[in-house]
Amino acid sequence: MEAKKEKNIVLGITGGIAAYKMVELASRLTKAGHNVFPIMTDSAQKFVGPVTFRSITHNSVESDLFTPPAHHDVKHISLADRADLFIVGPATANFIGKLANGIADDLLSTVIMATKAPVLLAPSMNVHMLNNPIVQDNMDYLTEKGYHLITPGAGYLACGYEGQGRLPEPVELLEHINYHLTDKDLVGLKILISAGPTREKIDPVRFITNYSSGKMGFALAREAVNRGADVTLVSGPVNLDKPLGVNLIKVDSALEMADTIFNISSAQDIIIMAAAVADYRPSQYSKQKIKKSISEMKALELTATTDILAQLGKQKEKDQLLVGFAAESENLMKNAEAKLKNKNLDYIVANDITSSETGFMSDLNQVTIISKDEKLEFEKMSKQATARQIFNCIIKS
Ligand code: CTP
Repeated sequence: MEAKKEKNIVLGITGGIAAYKMVELASRLTKAGHNVFPIMTDSAQKFVGPVTFRSITHNSVESDLFTPPAHHDVKHISLADRADLFIVGPATANFIGKLANGIADDLLSTVIMATKAPVLLAPSMNVHMLNNPIVQDNMDYLTEKGYHLITPGAGYLACGYEGQGRLPEPVELLEHINYHLTDKDLVGLKILISAGPTREKIDPVRFITNYSSGKMGFALAREAVNRGADVTLVSGPVNLDKPLGVNLIKVDSALEMADTIFNISSAQDIIIMAAAVADYRPSQYSKQKIKKSISEMKALELTATTDILAQLGKQKEKDQLLVGFAAESENLMKNAEAKLKNKNLDYIVANDITSSETGFMSDLNQVTIISKDEKLEFEKMSKQATARQIFNCIIKS
């Protein structure tokens, strides 16, 4: 299901240099429609000012247990009850230690102690502090008690060291949050998704490809993981980050994509082919770079590739759901319906690629989901929201 809008998210900020990254996280969460309630420890305010968080979230920034609340409620209990999720970042060694030992001596630790909402902790500190056995034990203990620890990234640390201890980037923190906010209605399902273009090599420097960005396939994979599925994503060359929790297999050519998919297809409950697979590859691959002096080479001879989806349709397992995409520049419905039937699909997602707003590179899409019984036309929306609608639709069957 959709990570429902307007969740109440408490953003805990403790005193680490990476506190500045929480500003961007606050902004992204607010833009996504959530209500963000920042709580800053005293030390956090030495790194970033509360005014920044207040301006971004449009909510007051709490830090003190004893300032009178705006309403007649007990501040720490009200925030603890209202929250759908807590995220603390950077979570310092001190804060982790306090939590692990049940110490509630400021607003943030008190509210966390009083909440039943999921609590995500994103530690960030010097690599030696992180590896300190006491800190490690505290983190293990908190995990055992049901807190969700986010693994810190590795790289250059503000203290000058190289190593693990970086606060993950806000987009990654957002992925963790979305995972925890999403209902798990795809648990137990194995889902295979293909994405991106393929590259059909002509010689060592040239290839045939297409404009596919892979964004739609990656959005589907992210959505399926968030909803609890076991997801394999087979992708051609794209410039996108691996969605959290997805098993990503990178391929290059249509042949490689076909081999990879056929190897694992029979074990899948749902297969969605969002890849723009090349229909043809050069009949000959030239090991040497083709020189322009070869003037007789006026045409490139091509050979058809395997239609992966059509083949999957022929060998479809019992109860397996097969979903294709139809990227069309004309006669959208007629062409999509023909592909649904000819490739033996359960659903086809039809989209018009001529619109500049919703085309290959765009973050938006406008689709119609077609089965043999119904046709559902959707408004223009983000590819992530489109992915949500696609799963909402296909799991009904
Ligand atoms: N597809 C596939 N293998 C191919 C070509 C396409 O699995 N060699 C899949 C795509 O991933 C998509 C669906 O088939 O899910 C339709 O792809 P599309 O490019 O729209 O259509 P084609 O079948 O290639 O037909 P045409 O190019 O004539 O429109």
